[in-house]
Amino acid sequence: MEQAHQDRIAALQPTAVNAILAEVRELQAKGAKLVSLMRGEPDLPTPAHIVEACARALQNGRTGYPDNRGEKSFREAVALKLERDNHLLYDPASEILATSGATFGIYAALMALLREGDEVLLPDPIYDAYQSPIRLAGGIIRPVAAEIRNGRFVIPMDTLERAWTPKVRALILNSPWNPVGTVFTREELERLTHFCERRNVTLISDEIYETITYGDHKHISPLAALPGLRDRYLHINSLSKTYSMTGWRVGYCAGPAPLIQRMFMILAQSSRGPATFIQDAAAAALAGSQDCVAAMRAEYARRRDIVLHTLPGAMAPEGGFFAMVDVRHRAETSDQLRRRLLHDFGVVVVHGAAYGPSGEGTLRVSFASGGDTLRQGLERLREGLS
Ligand SMILES: Cc1ncc(COP(=O)(O)O)c(C=O)c1O
Repeated sequence: MEQAHQDRIAALQPTAVNAILAEVRELQAKGAKLVSLMRGEPDLPTPAHIVEACARALQNGRTGYPDNRGEKSFREAVALKLERDNHLLYDPASEILATSGATFGIYAALMALLREGDEVLLPDPIYDAYQSPIRLAGGIIRPVAAEIRNGRFVIPMDTLERAWTPKVRALILNSPWNPVGTVFTREELERLTHFCERRNVTLISDEIYETITYGDHKHISPLAALPGLRDRYLHINSLSKTYSMTGWRVGYCAGPAPLIQRMFMILAQSSRGPATFIQDAAAAALAGSQDCVAAMRAEYARRRDIVLHTLPGAMAPEGGFFAMVDVRHRAETSDQLRRRLLHDFGVVVVHGAAYGPSGEGTLRVSFASGGDTLRQGLERLREGLS
């Protein structure tokens, strides 16, 4: 058991973005001038009223240890936000946990849920940082190959059914879906949640891109599609993308009290939650005017239009700030193409295969950065792909 755990740690891999970053730094050290359309890191500043709330909290001496579950005021702000935006009712005392970003929520959820050998259904392609915590928790990944239908990635229900075994304990969903940009419709969510109910599978729902959606596409919390799934549903969220707060490391989870309690025990032995003054600022973000969120959404929509007008083969994302470029007609693999774009054209993107074999034939282009970075990056990409 001890050895298996050490082996799992030894087998941990950097995420695709971190592996490419290492390559990028090596080239930069040799003098290369690169433009990056790689990271999911908004270049917009954290809105001023949130920064001010943080400064006020610091001035007011909010620098002691936080309540490890999350400050009461933050948990209450989360409960109100979940009701206001997602139509979900959670008890701040027992069903909400403050976490250091969604990353810690994902980790604690998997550590709390999985037993050795349990299986986790994972759409392919998907954000690759789910894999390591699944393995660390002793879980086994059962990929669910997505398909491109009518220009969007979907999870075929027959593929999901075939991937299921009696050992499956959880399904991870991420809508809006990184990297592919799909926002699940209510009908899709009904099918997916009914599957979880029928198969007794816990749905871990990462909703970190919920506010970044385009046109008629609107985020729906999967639990709103099937309220009866409440005992087997865990909501994971963070302020990183919604409020441009990636460096603040603050997020939250909501779920059934016994699961939240187990996650809390893991948190109490490790991170002990975000800093007190950060939680005050996060509460101000959730409770305050959401105009800043609408303004950011409008800015991403503008950038998305630029990407779609500039890049042949770019698939229109329904949400999030990534566009997948369809390069399936090319002879080289997505990783070969990514490397060529990096070395010969000085533009950094992520190959779709980094997110799973079903991402092969695509490149992920981020428009989390705009302005000159986006303009130059797209110029280089256009040239490299022509
Ligand atoms: C789908 C998804 N979940 C979670 C995270 C990590 O979020 P956080 O900064 O809140 O830890 C990211 C970051 O890129 C993401 O894309």
